[in-house]
Amino acid sequence: MERFCVRFARMEISPRLKSLLVPSTRVAVLTGAGVSQESGVPTFRDKDGLWQKFRPEELANMGAFLKNPKLVWEWYEHRRQIVRDVKPNAGHDALVTFENFFKEFTLVTQNVDGLHQRAGSRHVLEVHGTLLRSSCVDCREPAPSEYLENLKESDRAVCLDCGGLLRPDVVWFGEDLPGRIWDLSQTAAANCDLFFTIGTSAAVYPAAGLPLLAKETGAYVVEINPQQTEISRLIDEQLRGPSAVVLPALLKELRR
Ligand code: OAD
Repeated sequence: MERFCVRFARMEISPRLKSLLVPSTRVAVLTGAGVSQESGVPTFRDKDGLWQKFRPEELANMGAFLKNPKLVWEWYEHRRQIVRDVKPNAGHDALVTFENFFKEFTLVTQNVDGLHQRAGSRHVLEVHGTLLRSSCVDCREPAPSEYLENLKESDRAVCLDCGGLLRPDVVWFGEDLPGRIWDLSQTAAANCDLFFTIGTSAAVYPAAGLPLLAKETGAYVVEINPQQTEISRLIDEQLRGPSAVVLPALLKELRR
């Protein structure tokens, strides 16, 4: 496996990756919390990550929600507030340029913060849902977005149609990924020439299986992350560094 070190403006990439940075290459990308880290959104498993301070079993599954919906809503409202106060970073922006440059490009994200869309990415497959929507546990109706915007932490979030409990439209532990979005993600991974896994610990399946699927089906797989991950040794090339540095540096290598 090739391993390249990124030192800010100067980055060495392999000849193979260089040769793939042309418009006809079919590209798929999986992003995780690391991509938003430099915007100020905490990751989950790093030293200061959310799962170091909070317990997923109290906050991120249906049982916990039904037991204490107020606590769960407060936690998600806190995270929505963080996201409202931050901006996309240079890594998100670079992925917008990728979308416009490559003829076939699919962006799959595990992030629920909407920052790719705010940066200008037009087609984003949100495999873990989004913080920015909610729906009724009983009748499944989505709640109007203004309702969420005006919700205070102390309010009880209920469906305006049937009075059922509203839940955030994020995927909780033990739940399936949204079917059509997941199908499209797998199809993109299985049919690309170049796959980037960016800012994810690759610890949560099935999403973490996408780079491995891409590798099995013949794609060249590149990881962008300051740290080693569970799949680093299984893929083709590692670009060690923060995504807001590495991705803009890669833009300089795009060739028409
Ligand atoms: P993790 O917190 O597990 O991993 C974040 C990754 O980002 C780590 O590998 C870090 O090394 C890397 N990282 C940190 N700063 C970075 C930077 N500036 N640039 C690039 N990478 C950086 O987050 P995810 O892999 O996204 O699921 O976690 C996957 C899922 O676990 C989440 O979607 C969430 C969580 O439980 C649900 O809520 C369903």
